[in-house]
Amino acid sequence: MINKKSSEDCDFKTSLRTHTCGELRKSNAGESVSLAGWVSSIRTHGSVVFVDLRDRFGITQVVISESLLAKSAELNHIRKESVIRVEGKVVEKPAPNKALATGEIEVQAEKVFLLNNSSPIPLDLENKDAVTEETRLKYRFLDLRRKEMQRNIAMRHRITKAVRDYFDRAGFLEIETPVLGKSTPEGARDYLVPSRVNKGKFYALPQSPQIFKQLCMVAGFDRYFQIARCFRDEDLRADRQPEFTQIDVEMSFVSEEDIYRTVEGLMKHLFKEVLGEDLKTPFPRMSYDEAMLRFGSDKPDLRFGLEIHDVTEIFKNTTFRVFQNAECVRCIVAPATFSRKEIDKLTEVVKLYGAKGLAYYAPGSDGGIAKFLSEEERNELGKLSEGKESTFFFVADKKRVAAESLGALRLALADKLNLRGESKEWKFVWITDFPLMEWSEEEQRYVSMHHPFTSPKEEDLELLDENPEKARSRAYDLTLNGTELGGGSIRIHDNQIQKRVFKALKISEKEAEEKFGFLLHALSFGAPPHGGIAFGLDRLVALMTGNSNIREVIPFPKTKNAEDLMMGAPSEVSEEQLRELGITVEKHS
Ligand code: AMO
Ligand code: AMP
Repeated sequence: MINKKSSEDCDFKTSLRTHTCGELRKSNAGESVSLAGWVSSIRTHGSVVFVDLRDRFGITQVVISESLLAKSAELNHIRKESVIRVEGKVVEKPAPNKALATGEIEVQAEKVFLLNNSSPIPLDLENKDAVTEETRLKYRFLDLRRKEMQRNIAMRHRITKAVRDYFDRAGFLEIETPVLGKSTPEGARDYLVPSRVNKGKFYALPQSPQIFKQLCMVAGFDRYFQIARCFRDEDLRADRQPEFTQIDVEMSFVSEEDIYRTVEGLMKHLFKEVLGEDLKTPFPRMSYDEAMLRFGSDKPDLRFGLEIHDVTEIFKNTTFRVFQNAECVRCIVAPATFSRKEIDKLTEVVKLYGAKGLAYYAPGSDGGIAKFLSEEERNELGKLSEGKESTFFFVADKKRVAAESLGALRLALADKLNLRGESKEWKFVWITDFPLMEWSEEEQRYVSMHHPFTSPKEEDLELLDENPEKARSRAYDLTLNGTELGGGSIRIHDNQIQKRVFKALKISEKEAEEKFGFLLHALSFGAPPHGGIAFGLDRLVALMTGNSNIREVIPFPKTKNAEDLMMGAPSEVSEEQLRELGITVEKHS
């Protein structure tokens, strides 16, 4: 279980116990102690009973003699996960149990008190995979008793504490911002809260404290941070929850370099403090264009190669119809050969990203597109595989489709070839020079790649009116091992530039005024140049504890359907509550 670490000096002694279940050692032999905790296991050996007594600090073996058991009928019915208190003597074990920190001793019980019996428990605390995740979430209070969950939650505490210490030392103020507010600009759907006092009106829960932290800068709090709960009604995945926590940061009088330095210092501090690891800083940087070209992703996992190559030039005279009129031809060279069935599966992966197919070529074999390749093309491709056994996978398409589909293929190949997840490396990389806007087919207009308060690069300002998709922004993301840990930007602090950006985004003056009027207003009262970033705390804790799903590091998470299975939320409300709010609900079958 977890070490005490910073609570080393704490006294965990209470009226009901002298020691925790993780504390006793050989040096305590002979002492009279009392322990309290949960019955983790009960084993009968001849006439004695062995109990593994557990609390969050560890497990201590307790021996209950036959004569003691005979004295209390109650004790004979102790179930696993009951809470008991034991008074007894510490004795050295003849054969220590090396798996336990307390393994050199056991406690010979003299008195045992059943503090509270437990009903039979519906899940196996030793093996989480023995039950479905639904059961784990329904009985989360029991699931949280498991060793891994205790560790994850304790690590989360350590990380959060280290974040606060770091920012405090660097002169930041933690400032709370409202939860009941108005729509913020991150672009997911809002969670709405109806107002009783103002019937027919709604608050929106914050998708982030973005606007408020900018207002803090206007107010002169030039170094702000907050561990902030954010709410987004979006499609959920392994790394997305409807409510999640950000480490939110904003600074005045800064450029990108100041943000990078502050964040690198934060990560260095966290990894040293919590994991005892030394990170090498500064972190490498890569432009968005380069990341998309070489890795097909704006969060490239750099723990392995399998880079994407642009081979459009090689195929300029190709006889292969599929490659002839494509905007580009790109490929990945995998150091292996694959069966027909495996290739079909990989083809499904690229098709999910809009690719029309996946052409392949394995040097030395006649399969795939081998018959269409000229001698010269084979030679050129040979330079990429360096004569090693390999398979080339090609996508010919628009640049974006080729990048994204091969980016997904790259990850699928890495999983297949066991290149991901095995290594304990921490590959941080800053992604920079994002486009300011991208075209949304759905909305038929340009939308912000980050959010509309992100500053364009000064030299790209003139592109805003004619070629907005070419303008680059002063936004950056920090990624780690293929996960987007955080993102931010230098903001627009000039009202006039903010108006130009809104115009390019086809956000009318009226709409801008309605939605963000107070921010625009604030920008006209001496707003300092400022910028910031926000990190997904849940993602960071998941990575640092070696979990691939953020639900494992959130004490009470929601399912993929945004439900809390334990509380049964969301739920229907009474007619009375609806009446008070002036709301009628359409019946759903
Ligand atoms: P952004 O929207 O990129 O930026 O969010 C910042 C970080 O928050 C995490 N994150 C999530 N984690 C879990 N579940 C979710 N649904 C979820 N959505 C986002 C990610 C992400 O990198 N206000 C800006 C920041 C800024 O400009 O300073 C913002 O919220 O790790
Ligand atoms: P077809 O002529 O459509 O049967 O395709 C021949 C081969 O090329 C198949 O292996 C397809 O998967 C592949 N293919 C089709 N379209 C593309 C494309 N746009 N990019 C790469 N491969 C493709």
